[in-house]
Amino acid sequence: MYAHKHPEPTDPRVGPAIVYLIVGLPGAGKTTHAKELEISASALRLTPDEWQILLFGDQNPPDKRDLVEGKLVQLGMRAAELGTNVVFDFGFWGKDERSALRWIAGAVGARSQVVYLPIDHEEQRRRVTNRFATTPDRTFHMSDVELEQWRAQFQAPDDEELRGSQIPPVPPEHATWSEWASQRWPSLPDQYATTAANSRYSHEP
Ligand SMILES: Nc1ncnc2c1ncn2[C@@H]1O[C@H](COP(=O)(O)OP(=O)(O)OP(=O)(O)O)[C@@H](O)[C@H]1O
Ligand SMILES: [Mg+2]
Repeated sequence: MYAHKHPEPTDPRVGPAIVYLIVGLPGAGKTTHAKELEISASALRLTPDEWQILLFGDQNPPDKRDLVEGKLVQLGMRAAELGTNVVFDFGFWGKDERSALRWIAGAVGARSQVVYLPIDHEEQRRRVTNRFATTPDRTFHMSDVELEQWRAQFQAPDDEELRGSQIPPVPPEHATWSEWASQRWPSLPDQYATTAANSRYSHEP
């Protein structure tokens, strides 16, 4: 809109914000890593567990979690649009969730980076047991059966996602990834468009 007043940045430190998507099973070390990025990348860290536990204690109702996450996506994407790096410390078990947020990041003029923290079953068990024993007020209890079920549901990122290659097309029954995301997270408005004009840093005509 004010392109004539804002020439392309020449300082290499200036550029699009980075949206980090932290992917991993419970206990993989996502929040630990997100707290590191919070400092090393001056990023806004958005950790839904902190809000969920504050609001609902150990009940962890899934419908409320989706609402919390949707508002955090809306907030984080606005921050990214304003130039702030953002860390979504969500888990992102589904590839479609990651594709949708990569797409929305692009629509607000940000770059995105999928960060995957793998963990094997034994190490995971050790960590979540130890964590619950030391900080029960800040974490949820997790049974062995739950850990197994969650691992079966988890879709690990592939190499293309980790490299930031092209985002896959939205599933056919959806018009855009923005629409897909607003159904996945009902509190997130379907408000993102992917025109080049939306991106301050786009080099497309
Ligand atoms: N690289 C690591 N090596 C060893 N222990 C770690 C590592 N990263 C995290 N931990 C420990 O493992 C436990 C789980 O870490 P963290 O809370 O960061 O996981 P998480 O992925 O955020 O889990 P959740 O999905 O439940 O929020 C913590 O007690 C943490 O101190
Ligand atoms: Mg965590």
